[in-house]
Amino acid sequence: MSGETMGQEAAAVASLGITASATGNASRAEETAGEAVAGGIAVERLAAWFGRNRILADINLNMPPRSITAIIGPSGCGKSTFIRCLNRLHELVPGARVEGRVWLNGAEIYGPRVDPVQVRRRVGMVFQKPNPFPTMSIFDNVVAGMRFGSRRLSRQETRDVVERSLRQAALWDEVKDRLRAPATSLSGGQQQRLCIARALAVEPEVLLLDEPASALDPLSTLKIEELLAQIKMSYAIVIVTHNMQQAARVSEQTAFFLNGELVEQGPTQELFTRPRDRRTEDYITGRFG
Ligand SMILES: Nc1ncnc2c1ncn2[C@@H]1O[C@H](COP(=O)(O)OP(=O)(O)OP(=O)(O)O)[C@@H](O)[C@H]1O
Ligand SMILES: [Mg+2]
Repeated sequence: MSGETMGQEAAAVASLGITASATGNASRAEETAGEAVAGGIAVERLAAWFGRNRILADINLNMPPRSITAIIGPSGCGKSTFIRCLNRLHELVPGARVEGRVWLNGAEIYGPRVDPVQVRRRVGMVFQKPNPFPTMSIFDNVVAGMRFGSRRLSRQETRDVVERSLRQAALWDEVKDRLRAPATSLSGGQQQRLCIARALAVEPEVLLLDEPASALDPLSTLKIEELLAQIKMSYAIVIVTHNMQQAARVSEQTAFFLNGELVEQGPTQELFTRPRDRRTEDYITGRFG
């Protein structure tokens, strides 16, 4: 589901943790991992369903901080479903269910006292199709997640957040003189960087990107890849991509999914040059998918 089921705007709203139920003072994840997971996000025996259809089974993967993990695999294998389990977006689809554990910086995000809205603020998401809020200006899009949040920032603080986020998203120089222009006046590549800025403005710990460049031209794609390389020291980044050159260029670690299973994971260089599993080899050499 790349936003179609719940609608682009609803998905963006939910991913920013700005649903009506946001109280801003709910407890953070409280259960601590038995095994120390040093930051980042990790899944243990993760499974996911849409109704009766099991989409993911027994996924175990550690996605460390200050590093980019690429998720690859043929269409329909469960890549989007997987990353939607990492910020509790999956469960918003009626009939959808998750089992297993997801540790965010050592604490379980599916624990009983955890507010999913808070999880979504800590785990930011960028979708395949740029989805800025169409009626808002560039400026207001960046602060959209903060506006509805708990803290009330001063005007200067708000301006600082906007500049910092747009700089991080490598968009500042292109928009600094027209921050009040509608977001829809930007090109597709600029809109996608605006969505990255919007996700970064709330200072998440993890950034999930679901084929963020698949709708973009090569130059915009390059800009997104460059900005990921620049910001990765501050986040755990998980990127779904169909583009294996892109996975090879940007990521430290790659995970190959097939039919809802995690077939193989490892250092990107190794997985692409010496895959251990025949199915990985078939996929990366283009024999299927
Ligand atoms: N809202 C939904 N309701 C029911 N089934 C769904 C829904 N969204 C996705 N699925 C099914 O779940 C499976 C995994 O879908 P998912 O979107 O996670 O795949 P994907 O690997 O991201 O594919 P793609 O590369 O095409 O984006 C598919 O069989 C799909 O048909
Ligand atoms: Mg997908």
